[in-house]
Amino acid sequence: MKKRLFSGVQPSGNLHLGNYLGAIKQWVELQKDNEAMFCIVDLHAITVPQDPAELRKKTLEIAKIYLAAGIDPGKATLFVQSHVKEHTELAWILNTLTKIAELERMTQFKDKSQKDGKEGIGAGLLTYPTLMAADILLYDTAVVPVGKDQSQHIELTRTLAKRFNDRFGEMFVIPEGKLSKEGALIMGLDDPTKKMSKSATSEYNYIALTDDAETVKKKIKKAVTDSGSEIVYADEKPALKNLLNIYALLSNKKPEVIAGEYVGKGYSDFKNGLAEVIVNFLAPFQARLKNISDEEVLVVLKAGAEKAGSLAEQKMRQVRERVGFLANY
Ligand code: TYM
Repeated sequence: MKKRLFSGVQPSGNLHLGNYLGAIKQWVELQKDNEAMFCIVDLHAITVPQDPAELRKKTLEIAKIYLAAGIDPGKATLFVQSHVKEHTELAWILNTLTKIAELERMTQFKDKSQKDGKEGIGAGLLTYPTLMAADILLYDTAVVPVGKDQSQHIELTRTLAKRFNDRFGEMFVIPEGKLSKEGALIMGLDDPTKKMSKSATSEYNYIALTDDAETVKKKIKKAVTDSGSEIVYADEKPALKNLLNIYALLSNKKPEVIAGEYVGKGYSDFKNGLAEVIVNFLAPFQARLKNISDEEVLVVLKAGAEKAGSLAEQKMRQVRERVGFLANY
């Protein structure tokens, strides 16, 4: 039987290889045998200030990135989160079932609140995971393909689903997260102890999906490496391990096999090879991206919102009834 799959990306910052290898690449495979829904989570993006015109532009761009990466609107449902009002409605109900302590434990919230202080960040950043739980639970999702940085949010989603079911009777499917093997957490090129991140201060942290060949070569050349000169795949060499993971995922070979191809060669040859593999992936991807029109995307998103909206409406009717809201006759 086909499983329901749900995942999403925020339309903020520059999408990078970490987003692609951790999430979107898996989606393209998984859409074949499952009932997939891929969302552009604009409601999540506004948990930090966004320029309205820029947000609209980014939302369209992410939809184009999904299509250029190989998401097939004939197989999967693509839609914008704010087009389906039920996400915010369910998020509110889940908020009332969530402990403040559970939200304050989330690494993402802790990082942001430590950086800017609780006086400096909005309440949306705290309640962000209940909105993500709503996204997932609204559609009876069984599998959530994401990067490892989202695991804690999925754990909370499972807790909230169980809590609702215990209190009001069986309603939500308990979802499972699904991580890519080598791509679960792609690290920063400038610091292999931190994840590659859209909000990184240095552009040498990431390869954006829109970077041109020259930029890719420059960034890979500058990427930090470990001590020693051998190309080996080992935990003791975290920087190299990360570069080998990227190489492996983009060339569909095992990282150990790639390391074997560079026996007797140094970092310079390896980095040239890696830059070439990245450019060979990005060039056709960017060509496809350029050819997708706004009109084409809007048609796909409208159909997606209709499909998602009708599923969400059915589910919310049941949820409202269980919670005890009076029907609007
Ligand atoms: P976001 O927009 O930060 O990231 C989108 C996806 O990319 C993955 N990712 C990475 N994977 C590997 N290595 C990295 N360095 C890396 N950086 C990011 C993320 O894990 C994610 O899968 N809260 C989510 C969006 C969301 C969502 C959802 C996801 C909202 N509702 C429901 C799944 C289901 C987020 O901020 O992702």
